[in-house]
Amino acid sequence: EKSLTAQILHTYETRLFPSADSIEVKRTFIEKFATILVTEFPGWEVDIHVFGSSVNGLGTSRSDVDICLTTEHRELEDIFLLNKVLRKHNMRTYCIPRARVPIVKIWDPELRIASDINVNNTIALHNTRMLQTFVAVDGRVRPFVLAIKHWTKCRDINDAAFGGTLSSYTWVNLAIHFLQTRDPPILPVLHPRAHSLNAEKCMALGEVDLSFNDNIGELREFGRANLESLGFLLYAFFRTYAYEFDYRTQVVSLRNGCYLTKAQKGWDTGRPSRIFCIEEPFSTWLNLGHSANTIAVEGIRREFQRA
Ligand code: GTP
Ligand code: MG
Repeated sequence: EKSLTAQILHTYETRLFPSADSIEVKRTFIEKFATILVTEFPGWEVDIHVFGSSVNGLGTSRSDVDICLTTEHRELEDIFLLNKVLRKHNMRTYCIPRARVPIVKIWDPELRIASDINVNNTIALHNTRMLQTFVAVDGRVRPFVLAIKHWTKCRDINDAAFGGTLSSYTWVNLAIHFLQTRDPPILPVLHPRAHSLNAEKCMALGEVDLSFNDNIGELREFGRANLESLGFLLYAFFRTYAYEFDYRTQVVSLRNGCYLTKAQKGWDTGRPSRIFCIEEPFSTWLNLGHSANTIAVEGIRREFQRA
């Protein structure tokens, strides 16, 4: 246990913690991107919000830069417009127009950095702030979650879009939920217990309850009664999802800080997208595990067992 803890900390400090250079490159990229917008859309008011792992404390030197643009100029929501101007400025781009959140994926060959851009889709700004809050509560969160992200990338099970496995955001939800369910817990439940609107009604109205407790001053050191080491936590995380979690009936709910059942959520219908069920904490009608089918989940489970 001691040796594993030491290895996690060593990897965290030497390979996972973002280098000063990588932070500088991200800053330069954002400036460059802002200049392109001003040049191509003079006089338009467009705000740039950076979200995801570059700001939530769970990024590495190799993480991409996630950007949300907000603007009254709705024509920019057609991502092919953005695609066209970015190509003019020598960016390599790829559009995903039909995703739930349409994005342009960018590779900047000069700065050697990747970025995902969406327009007017602000919900991820809120879940970024939620993850920032969890990271600030206990010093173990950052190395623990980064170790898990690192493992998923090494084992090629961190690619929802093209690989049919799970996204970083899904893995992070799983890791945070695990820390909420230790005894005693390391992380608190941040959301009000009852969802103010029921899930189906929310979905129909496109309304989401965005409130959660972000009072870091009050929450800091919440997990102090739990003395588990990073090494033990990593071992227990693997064991939980290799042997203890019941994939057939259980749903991971970070919003509630416990497991729900598929029956409770009406997710026991045998759809191929409901094999590994991880509830999105804000849009609770969404299963973050939907990208992994039966075969992928079986593979992921074997990775847990192998680990
Ligand atoms: P790395 O880039 O791998 O370091 O991790 P990341 O946390 O930045 O993940 P990613 O680039 O895949 O996603 C960026 C951000 O988008 C996440 O941190 C979330 O805030 C948000 N996000 C990603 N996937 C989803 C999703 O399925 N639902 C919602 N609501 N938000 C998501
Ligand atoms: Mg990212």
